[in-house]
Amino acid sequence: MKHLAIIGTQWGDEGKGKITDLLVEKEGFKAVVRYQGGNNAGHTVVVGGKKHAFHLLPSGILHSNKVCVIGNGVIVNPEVLAKEIKDLTLRVGKKHAQLFISEKAHLIMPWHIVRDNIGGGKIGTTGRGIGPTYTEAIARRGIRFYDFKDKKRFIKRVKEELVWNKKLIKLMLDSYDIPKANRDKLKLRTVLNEQRIINRYWLLVKKLKDNPLIEVGDVGLLLDKYDQSKNKILFEGAQATLLDIAHGTYPFVTSSSPTLGGVYTGTGFRPRDLEVIGVAKAYTTRVGEGPFPTELFDKVGDQLRRVGNEFGTTTGRPRRCGWLDLTILHYAKVINGLDGIALTKLDVLSGINPLKIAIAYQIGSKKNKNFLPDTEDLSKVKVVYKEFPGWEENICNVRKFSELPINCRKYVNFIELEVGVPVKVISNGPDRKEHILK
Ligand code: GDP
Ligand code: IMO
Ligand code: MG
Repeated sequence: MKHLAIIGTQWGDEGKGKITDLLVEKEGFKAVVRYQGGNNAGHTVVVGGKKHAFHLLPSGILHSNKVCVIGNGVIVNPEVLAKEIKDLTLRVGKKHAQLFISEKAHLIMPWHIVRDNIGGGKIGTTGRGIGPTYTEAIARRGIRFYDFKDKKRFIKRVKEELVWNKKLIKLMLDSYDIPKANRDKLKLRTVLNEQRIINRYWLLVKKLKDNPLIEVGDVGLLLDKYDQSKNKILFEGAQATLLDIAHGTYPFVTSSSPTLGGVYTGTGFRPRDLEVIGVAKAYTTRVGEGPFPTELFDKVGDQLRRVGNEFGTTTGRPRRCGWLDLTILHYAKVINGLDGIALTKLDVLSGINPLKIAIAYQIGSKKNKNFLPDTEDLSKVKVVYKEFPGWEENICNVRKFSELPINCRKYVNFIELEVGVPVKVISNGPDRKEHILK
C-alpha cells in the first residue's frame, strides 16, 4: 500500500487540483490532505463541464466517500473557508467529503492581510496575508485553532496582537510612504476594530466547529489511524517547488514548504511508503515577479495564454507564459525524489510549430544542465533550446498514448528520457475525463 504526494514542479498552477481529483477516486485513496499554503492557492477541478475552484478545501472534496484534511502547515482564513464550504454546498448539496482541520493550524487574521497589502507588492504576492501569517508563526506569536478552546484565551491573544500590529502597520505605512488615498482604501478603522475582530472570528470558528461535516483535532493521529488500517492517503501540494521558501527562487517565493519536506512538518505524520508525483505543465507559467528564463513575449506566448486560459484562479492576473524548461524539472526531481511525472496541458501545444524545450543554461562559454535558484544568476542566463516539430491535431479526445500524434509522443518521450522520470499521467484537457494513464 502506497500513499501519494502530488507536488508542483514549476511555479504553480500546473494542474495539481485536476490530478488530485482524478487520482483520488481512480487509485482508491481514503483521505486528501493539504499540508501547506493557504488561500493563495487556486486549484481547479472540472467535472462534466462544471468548474470548481478550490482555495483552502482539498481537491478531493467532491468525493463524498472521502475525508479531506487541512494539516497544521496550512494557514486558514476562516471567512474564506466558510464561504468556500457554503458555495460548494450550493453547487453540490451535502454530497461532499468530510473535513478535518488541524487544531495546530494558524489563522490568517485581518492584520496579516493589511500587512501583505502594504508590503507584498514587490514580490507580487496574492495579497491574502500569507507571508505575514507564516512570519508570525515562526516568531511564535500566531493565533491557532487551539486559542479558540476558550473565549477568554482568544480575546487575550487578539488584544495582545492588535496592540503590536497597529504599531507595526503605522510604521510600515510611514516607511513605505503610502499616499493618503491608498491608506484610506485599507479602511483600517473598520478592519482593525478590536470588538469586530473578536466577534467575527469567534463566530466564524464556532460555526465551523458546529458543522456536522467538520471536525477540528489532531491530524497526525488521524493519518496514523488511516495508515494502520491500510487506508491510503493523498497529500496535495499547493504552490510549487520554485515557490518553496527554502528551495525556490527566493525572494520571489511563497512563505511555506510546498516541496516534499512540507508533508512531514505540515501534518505530523510520516508516510513510510510514499510515491511522489510531480505535476508539470507541458510549457511553463509564472504569476508575480521574478526571473523566468524561457518566458515568451511574442505571439506564441500570447497563444499559450489564450488557448491555455492562463489567468490566475485566485487573483485573475494574466500568467506569464514560456517554453518548458527541463533544468526546472530535473531540480524538482532531486528535491522531491520524484517517482513519476503528471504532464498537463499537452493539448495546449497543438498547432504550435516548431516547439522548443530548454535543456540547459549557457553562462559564458559553459553549458549548465542544472537549474540556478539564485535569482541574480537566473536573470543572466542564456537558454539552450532543442527544437521539436509540432502537431496540428486536437488531442483532447485521445485516451491512449499510442494514439497520440507521433510528434506529440516524441515530445513526451524526450522529457521522460532527459529528466529520467517516467511520465505516468498525461492530462489533455481540463475535464476529469480528459487524461491518459501511461
Ligand atoms: P493548480 O493550482 O496546480 O491546481 O492549477 P490551476 O487550477 O490553478 O490551473 C490549471 C488550469 O488549467 C485550470 O484552469 C485547469 O482547469 C486547467 N487544466 C488542467 N489540466 C489541463 C489540461 O490538461 N488541459 C487544459 N487545456 N487545461 C487544463
Ligand atoms: P497554486 O497552488 C501560482 C505566487 C504569487 C507570488 C508569490 C508569493 O494555485 O499553484 P504569496 O501570496 O504566496 O505570498 O505570493 O507566489 N503564488 C502562486 N503562483 N500558483 C499558486 O498557487 C501561487 N501561490 C502563490 O503570485 O508571486
Ligand atoms: Mg492554481
